[in-house]
Amino acid sequence: MASSPIFPFLRAILTVALALAGVVVLFIMYYMSLPSPKCYSAPTHQTNKPIMLLWFWPENKMFDFRDCKRFFNIDSCHLTDDRSLYPRAQAVLIFHRAIQDDLSNLPALPRPRFQQWVWFNMDSPTNTRRIAGIEGLFNLTLSYRKDADIHVRWKLTVKKEVDEDFVLPKKERLLCWIVGDSDLKTNSGERYTYYRELVKHVRVDVIYRTSAESLKGENYFRNISSCKFYLSFEDSIHRDYITETFNGPLAAGTVPIVLG
Ligand SMILES: *[C@@H]1O[C@H](CO)[C@@H](O)[C@H](O)[C@H]1NC(C)=O
Ligand SMILES: *[C@@H]1O[C@H](CO)[C@@H](O)[C@H](O)[C@H]1NC(C)=O
Repeated sequence: MASSPIFPFLRAILTVALALAGVVVLFIMYYMSLPSPKCYSAPTHQTNKPIMLLWFWPENKMFDFRDCKRFFNIDSCHLTDDRSLYPRAQAVLIFHRAIQDDLSNLPALPRPRFQQWVWFNMDSPTNTRRIAGIEGLFNLTLSYRKDADIHVRWKLTVKKEVDEDFVLPKKERLLCWIVGDSDLKTNSGERYTYYRELVKHVRVDVIYRTSAESLKGENYFRNISSCKFYLSFEDSIHRDYITETFNGPLAAGTVPIVLG
């Protein structure tokens, strides 16, 4: 049996199938983490919804426009990436990171009087590239900031059903922090300065990111959940800016101590 040529063949097929399954799972994970799009629209006749034109796909990642209705029950505008609808679009969503320095990939046609351009940026100021000449172009802002015209957050996943046999994890450690080994020694960022001061007064369980495997997926949650508190220090400190550094510990049942 072992010499039968069918087995290597089957194994090859199985390998390909597994790889494909992996890709699909990764795609779904990415897809679930996309920002929740919101459409705001002036009241118009139902058959004539305002058109919202997505000029660039954020990070070139695509999603199904019907998700707006399916997941968020938002159905009051027509979201599209069809650039031929530009002259009729009420709003044009322009993803900051995709704008070229010379602005040459922005809409070239004259802007209709009724049309609003929406500056779409989910990065913190530290991670946002300055582009000369865009200051006067936009009518609305879309970002994580609460004072944006359109305020959005990356989607958070919340467990709806509580396990019957859920056992509160043992809190063996007081205060934890996952951090890069070299960062801690050499980095002079605000959070490291804060940490160096803090350890003079309280024990911090530093978990080095070098042992990456043990900190992925469920392992991450299991590991963090044995800490009472976690140092949720963002790499750049900006108003309203939070990342999974904050959400992660919360989801694990650990109290985040936030610098951000
Ligand atoms: C949008 O902003 C541009 C540039 O400042 C301006 O010319 C245009 O009138 C504004 N459009 C609307 C609908 O407010
Ligand atoms: C957490 O991860 C670190 C680094 O991999 C490991 O040394 C530690 O034992 C883990 N702790 C728990 C409770 O899983």
